[in-house]
Amino acid sequence: MSIVLTIANNKGGVGKTLVTLAIASTITWLQKNEPSLLPNTMRKLPILVVDTDPQANTTEALGIDPVEVPVNILELYENPSVIETTSGLSLLQASPKQKNIVVVPSSIKLESISNTLPSQIDGRTRLKDAIDRVKEYYSLVIIDTPPSLGIFTQNAVVAADTILIPLTLTKHALLGVSNMLTFLVTAKKSQNPNLNVLGLLVNAYDKRYRLQTTLLKAIQKEYGIFSFETIIPTSSRMVENIAARRNLLHNIAADHRSILVDLLKELFRRVDKPVSFHKG
Ligand SMILES: Nc1ncnc2c1ncn2[C@@H]1O[C@H](COP(=O)(O)OP(=O)(O)OP(=O)(O)O)[C@@H](O)[C@H]1O
Ligand SMILES: [Mg+2]
Repeated sequence: MSIVLTIANNKGGVGKTLVTLAIASTITWLQKNEPSLLPNTMRKLPILVVDTDPQANTTEALGIDPVEVPVNILELYENPSVIETTSGLSLLQASPKQKNIVVVPSSIKLESISNTLPSQIDGRTRLKDAIDRVKEYYSLVIIDTPPSLGIFTQNAVVAADTILIPLTLTKHALLGVSNMLTFLVTAKKSQNPNLNVLGLLVNAYDKRYRLQTTLLKAIQKEYGIFSFETIIPTSSRMVENIAARRNLLHNIAADHRSILVDLLKELFRRVDKPVSFHKG
């Protein structure tokens, strides 16, 4: 059974896109190098990366030009069943940069339906409708979202069976997280009762800054095991790889690569055994 994982935080710039790319690229790295670390069902099938952010950062990082691409996610929101038609086939673009990654590209044009979609009767379930039609062909469907709790994030939360919340260690991190969790409690109650909120993932930690260490301890104290043990450090190499549209793991330090492998191991553990949604 494939996993549908949404990466969300309404705060901007916390690493949603970087974490999306990190998870997708690490799975394809493991498929090639250490498949025994992956669940059986994830050893061969490609990863589907769905970019629901009109900024289209993930689409670009995976080597697809969001302006040139003939069909984008706007078409899917207009008609979810398109994913199974000929034009749907061009909606599912193999990444020219990364083997075994397929992309549903985003586009700035997506903004054009952000006002009309919420008033449609199925306006929050269209992404789920489309993904349910194709997910069996993928080992993981991973959805990147925009920095808002608007209609595109709502669709991504309804479509997901698991959700991961990346955050960075800034002063407003804790406040932002509690807004996000309140939103998820409501979404879980009213729209997606089986949603497994995997937890909080601290990203871009730089231990040289004392404030960051203080904030990290505060988060761990407040949220307990709901906060992932794995912490993603700052990495200029990863950032360079994204900018150059290279595989995120290209030439990164071995210890950083093993942190990403640890992240996946922890993620799979939490998929199998959900942790408490509440504060620790
Ligand atoms: N671990 C990291 N180390 C160094 N820089 C990072 C790290 N994670 C993210 N960044 C940088 O921080 C910025 C924001 O990251 P990213 O685009 O992944 O965040 P986002 O949450 O997707 O942003 P948005 O809300 O705009 O979509 C980028 O310039 C990115 O390169
Ligand atoms: Mg982003």
